[in-house]
Amino acid sequence: MSDETVRGLANGLTNYGDKDFALYLRKSFARSMGYSNEMLARPTVGIAYTQSGFNNCHRHFPEMLDAVKRGVIAAGGLPLEFPTVSLGEVFLNPTSLRFRNLMSMDTEEMIRAQPMDSVVLMGGCDKTVPAQLMGALSAGRPAIQLVGGPMMTGRHKGERLGACTDCRRFWAQYRAGTVDDHEINQIEGRLSTTSGTCAVMGTASTMACIAEALGMMIPGTAAIPAVHADRLRAAEATGIAAVGLIGSGRTPDKIITEKSVENALRVLLAIGGSTNAIIHLTAIAGRAGISISLDRLNELSDTTPVLVNLKPTGANYMEDFFAAGGVGAVLREIKDSLHLDCLTITGETLGERLAADDGWVDHDVVASASNPIEPVGGLVALFGSLAPKGAILKRSAADEKLFEGEGRAVVFDSLEDMAKRIDDPNLDVNPDDYLVLQNAGPFSASCMPEAGYIPIPKKLASKGIKDMVRLSDARMSGTAFGTVILHITPDTASGGPLAFVRNGDRIRLSVKNRAIDLLVSPEELAKRKAAAGPFKPPVPERGYGKLYAQEILGADEGCDFKFLKPSKDA
Ligand code: FES
Repeated sequence: MSDETVRGLANGLTNYGDKDFALYLRKSFARSMGYSNEMLARPTVGIAYTQSGFNNCHRHFPEMLDAVKRGVIAAGGLPLEFPTVSLGEVFLNPTSLRFRNLMSMDTEEMIRAQPMDSVVLMGGCDKTVPAQLMGALSAGRPAIQLVGGPMMTGRHKGERLGACTDCRRFWAQYRAGTVDDHEINQIEGRLSTTSGTCAVMGTASTMACIAEALGMMIPGTAAIPAVHADRLRAAEATGIAAVGLIGSGRTPDKIITEKSVENALRVLLAIGGSTNAIIHLTAIAGRAGISISLDRLNELSDTTPVLVNLKPTGANYMEDFFAAGGVGAVLREIKDSLHLDCLTITGETLGERLAADDGWVDHDVVASASNPIEPVGGLVALFGSLAPKGAILKRSAADEKLFEGEGRAVVFDSLEDMAKRIDDPNLDVNPDDYLVLQNAGPFSASCMPEAGYIPIPKKLASKGIKDMVRLSDARMSGTAFGTVILHITPDTASGGPLAFVRNGDRIRLSVKNRAIDLLVSPEELAKRKAAAGPFKPPVPERGYGKLYAQEILGADEGCDFKFLKPSKDA
């Protein structure tokens, strides 16, 4: 912990056994960067900076950084950026989730170790915002989130395109043979045409909305497009606010509370947000000692309407959401169910923030609560003999006709098995079967990739089948859609019931009853368990992989690491 009364570079001195010497040496080295003594006497604002050649979504961060610094300097602070791990979703193997906790550790330790009085968290791509909020909560310094904002849409043959719901739609057409090699190559160049995060209500946009709903961001800034001048004004305002945080006592634990987490869950449901956000919000809340119960999620889901008409569940893109009023419009529509006394990073309460809002909203994009898109929330948790600790279905992105029923399991025992057999013309599969993927959970070697969106087998896709019930312990991209049951917990690799599903078993789904059950007798299950023997998730011999395997928690605990959770006596 920093000493709150000591500010700027004199804070947290390097330990040489002589404090005066340590400050003299630090200032001498800082002066080598060309700063004047006047600047070095100012309070310091750290800027967790995640620009990377492996992160297209953060391509515009140099310009945003300039604007943050401008704000800090104008408000009387000294801005000092520092690099941390950056996670570009599509550049990481096996999957970005494996590295979210690494980034959170890096962020936490660099905030704590370096002399900053407050910190701006510059993130955007899927895992970066949760990692930064987790790290900042654990570090305990005043912090404010700034996101990169969404990409603009592109055009293809007169149609608007946005990563990455349209990526999947066209890929499905390519697999079905209705789009050829030439056209898929054209589309590849037109899906992501500007800097910024995915253009739909995917995980990055969802996490940006959640950060704003939690109160960790300047109001009205979650949805500003990456290339819009308002994005730079938001960056400048964030720099000013970061200076205002110094000495205010508004550390992240004062903002992220049980009540603000519940507000964030309401917003997640109302925007029809990504399933991944359940895992991330659980992990963020966990760092503040707050647990999220999936039963409570269901209660909130039953009393929160879906309001936002955005892909992947609706028709529009993030640039339309911004123009329609953004998160403020959603918050105002569900105001009666929110905790308005929650403190936000600016020092206002949520209620004060909403009272100051100009109130304009385009109801074609953000529906009114009295005339919602869906009367109930976008996500629902399922429980049963197949998922004793829960599973998640994004019902707003699923086919309602498949919500109640029973199907024959067609099982793939790994990602490799699925890749090998899914398009086999001899695969024994019918449209009303349930596709089951095993060994893709957090304890597996693949570290819970976004593979839950199991492709429709080619032999069925070519006949026009677009959706089937699909089940796994994997995650799904926030930009995907379909009747896809995810995060089945406990997962296969830790010996959950999913491990014992066999081809031909019957599985019953009832969204109405929030139930997912494996219809196999207890005797038969016991026999299968005995034959399988004890489950030992793989542990690599060294390095971060070893740490991950030893410390990872299940989806029900946000896939955080055991040793990063706050100690009960803290
Ligand atoms: Fe970065 Fe989608 S790849 S937000």
